Amino acid sequence: MLPAVLAPMVQHPLSALSGTLRRGEQTKIVLPPVIGHRGAAGCAPENTLAGFRKAAALGCRWVEFDVRLTSDNQPVLLHDNRLERTTDGRGKANASSFAAIRRHDAGSWFHPSFAGERVPKLAEALALLVELGLGANVELKAARGRAAETGALVSSLLVSYWPDDPAQLLISSFQPGALAAARDHAPSIARGLLFHRLPKNWLRIAAKLGCATIHAEHQRLSPAVVSEIREAGYPLLAYTVNDRARAQTLLDWGVTSVFSDVPDRLQGLARGGGNCPVMMADRASAATPRQGSMW
Ligand code: G3P
Ligand code: MG
Repeated sequence: MLPAVLAPMVQHPLSALSGTLRRGEQTKIVLPPVIGHRGAAGCAPENTLAGFRKAAALGCRWVEFDVRLTSDNQPVLLHDNRLERTTDGRGKANASSFAAIRRHDAGSWFHPSFAGERVPKLAEALALLVELGLGANVELKAARGRAAETGALVSSLLVSYWPDDPAQLLISSFQPGALAAARDHAPSIARGLLFHRLPKNWLRIAAKLGCATIHAEHQRLSPAVVSEIREAGYPLLAYTVNDRARAQTLLDWGVTSVFSDVPDRLQGLARGGGNCPVMMADRASAATPRQGSMW
């Protein structure tokens, strides 16, 4: 049994294609135990179309990837705001136009066989994921002061471009402002709240943002923390896990999914006893959040 998350569904612009989406209905989000991280970042250049093809070839059912805005507001797949690490370009993504970023090679740094790979724009990535049948965890990365803009733009694009299956889509972010904008612009898409280390008030933050899932760095997790999250009714996704034994330990503790750069190394892993309870994505109305700082 795969764990399922119930997310409220609203009318989708492309619902004529499916004919099944109606306001007030719910859909199940089915999360696999292993999700390809930045595509399959240990096996192909991260956040590229080649990486998604690789993840699919390795048997992934879902991939995670990072999205940020260029200076001309094009959502592109890049983890860092700086271009140097993953392209042959220089400078900041949020200060470069899409056309300028697109000229850079995003594959050679990883291996010469990936020469010519480009930084994808979100719409291209979504089209390929649909073609490959992969689920998508879209992580919002916003430059300073652009969290709301990033969340609004990306989530609106997802509503327009993700065809008819919200069961295969999850937005996540470390940035509450980006998640709040996603909640307001695309409430039907489930949201996940990312933490490096779980703060004491995590539940209040998750409730305020109407998040369906919690995502946390695996090295900061303990059985007690995993239990706390699971007992509160949230599936827990842990990043970035490249060791098979560690992944199995986390799954045995009750972690729902692990993000891995090397999904092939984790093939065949299964969850331990517990499965995720069914839950609502939009918990915003169930909480009375404190005012002020979210963190
Ligand atoms: O979404 C999980 C993980 O990708 C978060 O960290 O820095 O790899 O985007 P990062
Ligand atoms: Mg990420």
